[in-house]
Amino acid sequence: MNIVIIGSGNVAYHLAGMFADSRIPVHQVFGRNEGALTEINSKFKIPVSTTELSDADLYLIAVSDHAVAEVSGTIRRQDCLVAHTSGSLPVDVLRGNYRKACFYPLQTFSKAKRPDFSSIPFFIEADYPGDADMLIELAGKISVNVMESTYEKRKYVHLTAVFACNFVNHLFSRAKEISDRQNIPFHYFKPLIEETVEKISFMEPREAQTGPAVRDDRRILKLHEELLDGTTLELYKMMNQSIKEMYEL
Ligand SMILES: NC(=O)c1ccc[n+]([C@@H]2O[C@H](COP(=O)([O-])OP(=O)(O)OC[C@H]3O[C@@H](n4cnc5c(N)ncnc54)[C@H](OP(=O)(O)O)[C@@H]3O)[C@@H](O)[C@H]2O)c1
Repeated sequence: MNIVIIGSGNVAYHLAGMFADSRIPVHQVFGRNEGALTEINSKFKIPVSTTELSDADLYLIAVSDHAVAEVSGTIRRQDCLVAHTSGSLPVDVLRGNYRKACFYPLQTFSKAKRPDFSSIPFFIEADYPGDADMLIELAGKISVNVMESTYEKRKYVHLTAVFACNFVNHLFSRAKEISDRQNIPFHYFKPLIEETVEKISFMEPREAQTGPAVRDDRRILKLHEELLDGTTLELYKMMNQSIKEMYEL
């Protein structure tokens, strides 16, 4: 089966790497960013192009959500399967007379860090059962964690990921701003961060909560509020409000 990846950002880069590692040939990576394509070519030895989209049996579109529809409309071939990789787009966003699908990997991808592919949950959706089976088999060569999913479910998978990953990472960035301003090395906090994440493999997140809000320690809450301003202060108050609501304090 001929596979072409469209896009050269974080997901396209790691998909190319995953396929290379799993000895799944990729016919071409197609995109508009020459520098990023050159990096993919030199790293994974996959042919790349900014001008000639190769014929393929499967096109995996890994471009920004806002560009998926437009990019999908440039695929003229009809006898092929086209899948996007977004958690929050329906399959019918794809514009063309080909068979349509979604190949969504639930992981945070940044070029600088290679994730452990073998455990990435893949959420597959396709208009035709045969295509779903084929994508499940393909993802199964990369990961042990592959399942079929509707858009209705996938939307909530992505929403949960925004809370569990994107917001948590943003809080790391805000935390580092605070420690940087006081010249406190952020690496002091790494064991704490690691333990926080590890704990939820052993207990419910709700049971793992510690800190001044869940203890309803108003003296500390007031002290901290005096040390903050702007958006970070609002964030601090909102997080404490959310904790208090959850624990009915
Ligand atoms: N990153 C994640 O953690 C993650 C995880 C799961 C799924 N996804 C999904 O995977 C898809 C790709 O995400 P990403 O993180 O790889 O994005 P990204 O790193 O921001 O890369 C976006 C890619 O889309 C290209 N692009 C943007 N606008 C375009 C246009 N109008 N025409 C042609 N190409 C265009 C960019 O080209 P230039 O470099 O030239 O701008 C780049 O190759 C998205 O649907 C996203 O929701 C992302």
